[in-house]
Amino acid sequence: SGKRPSGAISKAEMKEPVVGSSILGALQKYFELAIQRAYPDLTDAPVVVTVSGNSKFGDYQCNSAMQIAQLLKNQGLKSNPREVAQKLVSEVPEFSWVRKLEIAGPGFINITLDRSIGHRALSELLTKGVQPPPIERKMTIVVDFPSANIAKDMHVGHLRAGIIGESISRLLEFIGHNVLRIDHLGDWGTQFGMLIAHLQDIFPDYQTKSPPIGDLQKFYKESKKRFDEDPDFKKRAYECVVKLQSFDPVYKKAWELICDVSRKEFQKIYARLDITSEEYGESFYQTRMEAVVKELEQKGLLEEDEGRKVMWGRKDRIPFTIVKSDGGFTYDTSDMATIKFRIHEQKAEWLIYVTDAGQATHFEVLEACAIKAGIMDPEKVRMDHMAFGVVLGEDKKKFKTRSGETVKLAALLDEGLKRAGEKLKEKGRDQVLTPEELKKAQEALAYGCIKYADLSHNRIHEYVFSFDKMLEDKGNTAVYLLYMLTRIRSIARLAGHTSETLKELAKSTPVSLDHEKEWNLAKVLLRFTETLEKITRDLGLHHLCEYLYELSTVFSEFYDNCYCVEKDSKGEIKVIHVGRLLLCEATATVMEKCFNILGIRTVSKM
Ligand code: ARG
Repeated sequence: SGKRPSGAISKAEMKEPVVGSSILGALQKYFELAIQRAYPDLTDAPVVVTVSGNSKFGDYQCNSAMQIAQLLKNQGLKSNPREVAQKLVSEVPEFSWVRKLEIAGPGFINITLDRSIGHRALSELLTKGVQPPPIERKMTIVVDFPSANIAKDMHVGHLRAGIIGESISRLLEFIGHNVLRIDHLGDWGTQFGMLIAHLQDIFPDYQTKSPPIGDLQKFYKESKKRFDEDPDFKKRAYECVVKLQSFDPVYKKAWELICDVSRKEFQKIYARLDITSEEYGESFYQTRMEAVVKELEQKGLLEEDEGRKVMWGRKDRIPFTIVKSDGGFTYDTSDMATIKFRIHEQKAEWLIYVTDAGQATHFEVLEACAIKAGIMDPEKVRMDHMAFGVVLGEDKKKFKTRSGETVKLAALLDEGLKRAGEKLKEKGRDQVLTPEELKKAQEALAYGCIKYADLSHNRIHEYVFSFDKMLEDKGNTAVYLLYMLTRIRSIARLAGHTSETLKELAKSTPVSLDHEKEWNLAKVLLRFTETLEKITRDLGLHHLCEYLYELSTVFSEFYDNCYCVEKDSKGEIKVIHVGRLLLCEATATVMEKCFNILGIRTVSKM
């Protein structure tokens, strides 16, 4: 009979969840155990534990009883959900950090935490900093991003790939994995033949003098025109490709010069946005492509198809083109060689590809082919296509500039800076901040709002790029959240405290959790770990944005109801509630961690 994976709980966990691990995760374990004990014959009973919908009734709730009763009924056994709930409650192991379990309605089990867990967890947070959830094992993870293409336009899609890839890398690094950020730069392929041939014609002394290719776009268009119109040029272009692929130094030099033009442009954008990824371009895999083609051929996996050699990964999808009819390789070939390198040489156990959703089929076929070829064992390697939707303009059409071209990214970032600057002026910040502080705030705001607008949407969906929307100071925007953080920081400043003094105080003073709003805030703070765990499952970074927004909403409620610093009629400070300042500090610390994972800079003044 199918047994559930062991729900064994260690002695230490009985006392409280392992440091940093989520309360939700611990409760799930407890109820899983209770279900196993109560109904050993039910193998598919769902363990449903959630945050309580209404904090009046408890902090978390378990809703398994209803479904278990249904399962029993299906087996012809008499039962009612309340009875099931009763039985579960009696089988849940005793644990000190849950104050009470109550059955309500048709069979909900309301779980009320003991506030002591909040005291312990928050004082630890304040003294040691935000801790990541524990992981079973440190994994090597390849995150493939932003992977733009040389000579072709780098478009907003690559901006998304960069923003999303940077953030997921930060998250996985924070929880302790070995993350290889890899820029699968499109620096190889037949288009380089025509680019090189064109270069030789217009800058014949390129071997000795660096050619002034200012605009690679224009250069690309010119050579493409000649390629399409002039058969002699076309023939020469092909010869160049062959020379390049055999690594002839003269052609390699020309290729490097061309790549450098794009590379420099890309790097400027990435640097502005704090995006880092190590270049392993497609060219890196040339000899590995040759090897993998042989391997696939030997394994009898290639099929002849009108002169091409194809490989079927899935019968319900198109096949991979492994060798073109002219003998050349393709994007598919390069990904087969790449996946082999990542699994067998880089020892990756988890592969994440960050690209637009349009490539979904490509990655499905890639996974299937890699499994079929014995390159990847799906039991040992996890593969995710972290797909994202297209960026739309405010007219709901694919995002383009007025002239109709894909948006020039540098110009877009400049516009963001300009708009953020106006926003700060509008709020009179230029009167209060030093020019240096203002510049810092302006950059944090501009790049922060672009990133946040991207990350706060479910990545699968398309989203509308609108500076007006992202710079709104209400709602789930970076502007609102960054302001909130500076406001929280200023509370401590007002009371004459710094992070350091509060950290010291946290060792001896408990955070105050008696007021309902204090406890509500604490509970959200304790759910940070849960949120990270959820993201590692579905790679939805928007959960972190939703969490951040919820945290600041709950903070506002706390702040409106609970005085942190009391002043007399003359404005002199009368009372400082240190226990509450500690709650402010804990909130700021967690918010900062969230921003850091999202790749957004914070500022102390704004
Ligand atoms: N260069 C590709 C593009 O711009 C993305 C590459 C993604 N990575 C990969 N291993 N296929 O669409």
